[in-house]
Amino acid sequence: MDNSELFKMATDAKKYSYSPYSGFKVGAALLTDSGKVYTGTNVENASFGATNCAERTAVFKAVSEGERKIVSIAISGESDSLVFPCGICRQVLVEFGDENTKVICGNRKGDIKVFSLKELLPNAFTEFEGM
Ligand code: THU
Repeated sequence: MDNSELFKMATDAKKYSYSPYSGFKVGAALLTDSGKVYTGTNVENASFGATNCAERTAVFKAVSEGERKIVSIAISGESDSLVFPCGICRQVLVEFGDENTKVICGNRKGDIKVFSLKELLPNAFTEFEGM
């Protein structure tokens, strides 16, 4: 599963996006250390704050099926510029990623650029005292 294949799966997943409020469809596809791929879309809500991003949908699907380690995640949106994960999604990805986790960001033309999770969220909060 290379970066382009994973990005294609993210793009295909976009068709299931539930985004009647923003009209902005986002798809995500992540590869776990067991070799499985999980996809997700943004799922919006009339109460906007209840919206879930595509990345978190994919992470929660994977984790709730027993996965614990994300090797890479691709994000596909509908803008001319690359779509990057939001701050909340970066924090969620850190929980299930490591120093090698890759984030593949793409635009609607299909251009992709690969970042490390660490460069997207340096000095992330990972634990609190007492744990
Ligand atoms: N969105 C995502 O799903 N992922 C991102 O990385 C950026 C934003 C969604 C949330 C909302 O449904 C819509 O895009 C507009 O913000």
